[in-house]
Amino acid sequence: MIIRPVESADFDMVDAVHRAAFASTAFGHQGEAELVRAIHADGDALVSLVAETDGKIVGHALFSRMEVEADGAALNGAGLAPVAVLPERHGKGVGSALIWRGLGMLQAHNIQISFVLGHPDYYPRFGYSADTARPFASPFAGPHFMALLLDKAVQLPESGRARYAPAFGPER
Ligand SMILES: CC(C)(COP(=O)(O)OP(=O)(O)OC[C@H]1O[C@@H](n2cnc3c(N)ncnc32)[C@H](O)[C@@H]1OP(=O)(O)O)[C@@H](O)C(=O)NCCC(=O)NCCS
Repeated sequence: MIIRPVESADFDMVDAVHRAAFASTAFGHQGEAELVRAIHADGDALVSLVAETDGKIVGHALFSRMEVEADGAALNGAGLAPVAVLPERHGKGVGSALIWRGLGMLQAHNIQISFVLGHPDYYPRFGYSADTARPFASPFAGPHFMALLLDKAVQLPESGRARYAPAFGPER
């Protein structure tokens, strides 16, 4: 398996990965494929990686630009969403490989903090925690909203705000 940046020729396969992966969840596909395309079209994709096996794309993870404010100062933030792996490949480390590689690449983009809205049993293994996200106001605030400080010089603020890219819609 190789992990590499997405290319324009990949998008039909990336759509298919998101449709199949989210169709397998309790919520179903809720437009994640379209969200990926909109984030890219807006120029808000920071790190967008595919996992490829034998010429077939089996997974995709996207980190997009966020607007983050901490005690009145701006932080460089990136949201991890969406991440998807073909259902027949679940549990083989594809999602983890995409996320670990993406987190490594974010540091090269000077990203100081990353947020994710996801399952509290999955994302803490990468260092995301609900405690780190707690000071940041967001419509997604709660136990599923987690953050990871990538810049160790950054202190958690008393209060702040985290907004996903405009493609996420008015409640972002
Ligand atoms: C979430 C997802 C990307 C993980 O990819 P993956 O390649 O199966 O994950 P990995 O093989 O790296 O990790 C497997 C581990 O994650 C856990 N895991 C996977 N999805 C999980 C979920 N939704 N909630 C809790 N744990 C989950 C598995 O139980 C397994 O745990 P273990 O290592 O303790 O056995 C994949 O399951 C998927 O595409 N799901 C559907 C889409 C989705 O829900 N995306 C995330 C929301 S944006």
